[in-house]
Amino acid sequence: MVKKQKKAKPRWVVPAGIEPTEMDIKILEAQAQGKLVPRPRLIKTEKQIEGIRKAGLLNTAVLDHVAENIREGMSTLEIDKLVYDFTTKHGGIPAPLNYEGFPNSCCTSVNDVVCHGIPCDWEILEEGDIINVDCTTIVDGFYADASRMFVIGRASEEDQKLVDVAWECLKIGEKVCEKPYVFVGDIGNAIAKHAHKNGFTVVRDYCGHGVGNKFHEEPDVEHYGKPGTGMLLVPGMVFTIEPMINMGDYYVCSDEEDETGWIALTEDGLPSAQWEHTYVMTENGVEILTH
Ligand code: MF3
Ligand code: CO
Ligand code: CO
Repeated sequence: MVKKQKKAKPRWVVPAGIEPTEMDIKILEAQAQGKLVPRPRLIKTEKQIEGIRKAGLLNTAVLDHVAENIREGMSTLEIDKLVYDFTTKHGGIPAPLNYEGFPNSCCTSVNDVVCHGIPCDWEILEEGDIINVDCTTIVDGFYADASRMFVIGRASEEDQKLVDVAWECLKIGEKVCEKPYVFVGDIGNAIAKHAHKNGFTVVRDYCGHGVGNKFHEEPDVEHYGKPGTGMLLVPGMVFTIEPMINMGDYYVCSDEEDETGWIALTEDGLPSAQWEHTYVMTENGVEILTH
């Protein structure tokens, strides 16, 4: 007995009698070729984009505030306090706080922590550490998400190269999106090529994501993959690119002592670096909303 095939409902439909726009035609074409296309709700309205832009402005100010104050000898919990105090003082809410059991206002991922590091009072920043601070800010219900690497004092040459290549990977992903109607897989393919060329690997277990009306929305934005695969990116979509680049293997594991289950470590103990921005796709390619 075979299960009767249920025909999947098409994601993009133009009602009869309505003249399809240029965008409708491009999406319908991709859909007909079996490509993954967005559902209509992923296309943000102007008003929503303005809201996310406002959240992005505060999120950038929060990260600038961290940049001005981060220093050797500080605990990661002090960074968390900087983020909480600054965000709430300026009318925002730190999205990580109490999000699915996450206990703090930002993620602080030091050296071999790939992502979702939990700030704590006994983790003291030392000369040569590389740390990612990842902040997401809610303003009037809209979300913007970005992260930066900080080097405490001077990093080793190879750690500094990892930080730099992770940044270049973000910029390369951005460059792929200099026009609309590219696929998520085009971004991932270009990023992974650059990482591999430099002797590094790309984390596969975590990805970028749609964002704006919620913390995490469709699509998944993987940082590796084949061109022409993954979701079609069309004007009005808001999403992050946030490659996690490892010096050694791309495998991640969890921290046995972490009761929340959030913290992701590299399996081989070698360092990892990541940068993240929130973008809106426009007719002329992506614009950064977290500058
Ligand atoms: N900001 C992270 C991201 O880029 C998500 C953190 S979820 C948290 O998707 F709960 F750990 F904050
Ligand atoms: Co983030
Ligand atoms: Co993100």
